[in-house]
Amino acid sequence: MTTRHFLRDDDVTPAEQAELLDLAATLKASPWSRRPLAGPKSVAMIFDKPTLRTQVSFGAGIAELGGNPMLVEGKLAGIGVRESVEDVARVLGRQVSVVVWRTFFQADLDTMAAHAGVPVVNALTDDFHPCQLVADLLTVREHKGDLAGLTVAFVGDGACNMGNSWLLAGATAGMHVRIAAPSGYQPSEAMYARAAEIAATTGGSATAFDDAEKAVAGADVVVTDTWISMGKEAEEADRTTVFAPYSLTTELMALAEPDAVALHCLPAYRGKEIAAEVLDGPQSVVWDEAENRRHAQKAVMTFLLERSSR
Ligand code: CP
Repeated sequence: MTTRHFLRDDDVTPAEQAELLDLAATLKASPWSRRPLAGPKSVAMIFDKPTLRTQVSFGAGIAELGGNPMLVEGKLAGIGVRESVEDVARVLGRQVSVVVWRTFFQADLDTMAAHAGVPVVNALTDDFHPCQLVADLLTVREHKGDLAGLTVAFVGDGACNMGNSWLLAGATAGMHVRIAAPSGYQPSEAMYARAAEIAATTGGSATAFDDAEKAVAGADVVVTDTWISMGKEAEEADRTTVFAPYSLTTELMALAEPDAVALHCLPAYRGKEIAAEVLDGPQSVVWDEAENRRHAQKAVMTFLLERSSR
């Protein structure tokens, strides 16, 4: 029995990432052309944290693949509280064809994957947001063409799941990834080392900056995310101060290439991590990015199901 999972961005090779992006583009052009969930087979979608985009894009995407999106209320299920992650995994694996889980700890997702017997998809943890990155790379490819050799600057909280995921997924795509963040808010050394290991095979790179202007200078893609990730609400005052120099303003965006695109995975807070003029301006591709979640995740589920056997 083989079961493939998508728990972090480096669960796919560079060739597999390119295949995922091609499949996502095909599914965007022909939404009902692949039906790996026909039956319908059910997909459990579990959310232990707030969500809009992830639950609707998975729900719509699962339906387009011929399947039944089954929303499992995280609090009611009490995973790891009412019963162990292992036992929940064993039960879900007897009922559904894929498990999609947004939760806190990457280790819990690993445990789910080890015991479910069906593909498990990371719908965001504290450490990674790999489905978002498939959508982001699809969006960049649509607007900028080939990903390899492009420079992407991520500004703000580099220690969040999006910083980690951009490091790994960008390196996998052969991009030059720059993370501009204040001291204490960079991805870990281990994460940079893993990105460098991948980049050595793809021609990409991964570089830490503390100066947002230097990081954005000449970039093809500029990315930011909320300064107050889920679970960090108590730190809001401190974070608003420490991240202020990393706000994606029109002045900062002007340092990028003239045809650079701006990404934000949303929800966005205008006037904080991103100026309204940038988010709502001509270089913003955030609404394409939000739409592409559906196409990207359909590709991920199709890819995993095709490579898994029971
Ligand atoms: N970008 C993202 O994951 O959005 P939600 O938190 O609304 O799902």
